[in-house]
Amino acid sequence: MTPIQKPKFHFDKDLSSEKKSEKALVPEFEKVISFKQSELNETLKNALDSFHTLDIAQSAKEFRKIANDLKLMELLITDKGKHNSKNSLNDLTGKQWLQHTKSWVIIDGKSGDISKQIKNHPASYPPSLAEYYISYFTKAEEWVFDPFMGIGSTAQAAFNTHRNCFGIELNPEYAQFSRERIQKTNDDKMRSNIFTGDSRNTFKIWKENKIPPIDFIITSPPYWNMLKKSRGGVKSNQKLRMEQGFDEDYGDSKYDLGNIDDLTHYLDSLVDIFKNLKRILKPKAHLMIVLQNCRTKEGKMEPLAWKFALKMGEHYKLLQEFIWLQDQKFMGIWGWPTTYVSNVHHHYCLVFQNPNKN
Ligand SMILES: C[S@@+](CC[C@H](N)C(=O)[O-])C[C@H]1O[C@@H](n2cnc3c(N)ncnc32)[C@H](O)[C@@H]1O
Repeated sequence: MTPIQKPKFHFDKDLSSEKKSEKALVPEFEKVISFKQSELNETLKNALDSFHTLDIAQSAKEFRKIANDLKLMELLITDKGKHNSKNSLNDLTGKQWLQHTKSWVIIDGKSGDISKQIKNHPASYPPSLAEYYISYFTKAEEWVFDPFMGIGSTAQAAFNTHRNCFGIELNPEYAQFSRERIQKTNDDKMRSNIFTGDSRNTFKIWKENKIPPIDFIITSPPYWNMLKKSRGGVKSNQKLRMEQGFDEDYGDSKYDLGNIDDLTHYLDSLVDIFKNLKRILKPKAHLMIVLQNCRTKEGKMEPLAWKFALKMGEHYKLLQEFIWLQDQKFMGIWGWPTTYVSNVHHHYCLVFQNPNKN
């Protein structure tokens, strides 16, 4: 076989000394760029090594990672285009606004450098996902609420984008970790109020703590009882987590929505929580609720996200959906060699709006 010629390009230039358009880069993100540079170099090296050993699938995956990361950097940290004083929704320029309106986004969480506590939570979303949508649906210093705060990815995103944050989380360990996570990044000016509790009691907590009316909700509730379901004999992510001693689910609390087995009861309880949030939301405020459809043990698809969207649409205006795609997630060979079962690596980010008058 003819040996493959090594390509002539290299990625060893110092990005920070590259000629950059000054207008294009927000100065405070210079350090993100230099931090990213070593990560990009590492991935590029892996991509090329895989290419040279003819592991084309791995090489493609690494190159896609580079492309996805750069795209996200473009969306989150570059400041290009013109502002419009009539913009009442967010602080984006026209160009940034346009980018954010694409109905899908690829965002992968980082696996290598996250702490044990983050790994211990079985289903957190990356702060950059929340950051991306918080930037679109709010202005700086407005209030963001997450009724299923988990380990504080929304709170972290709110701080990164200079928004105030209110959150409720049932599991005391996760709630505590969320608070600690924010303390590390606290910039004094922004408030972050994270409570251990049941989001069925949101109004009481909100009132007692004198939190202002909320501008935007972004959250991912438990995806029904999905985490309680075993994946047969295949080595699933869930099983690997178990072997490593991480939490497989959120716990046994009777208040945990992930412990409701009856789908109708789960959906009614979830919709009920959001219905009651009208009392703390500003008129016309947006809600983004991240969910997935799922597959039962019997192999039937249960369109959880769609059913929720329809029920929730009875109380809020259902606006649209965004699809969040994960490109680097672990692939399980479910069903092989007899049955069709897909790797579900997309989530529905359902967007609702509070009516004009509460
Ligand atoms: C999908 S996770 C949210 C993860 C979060 N987005 C993050 O990135 O860390 C759902 C969370 O809802 C919490 N939860 C379940 N039932 C709850 C309830 N009734 N009130 C408040 N939190 C609840 C669970 O403990 C779990 O941490």
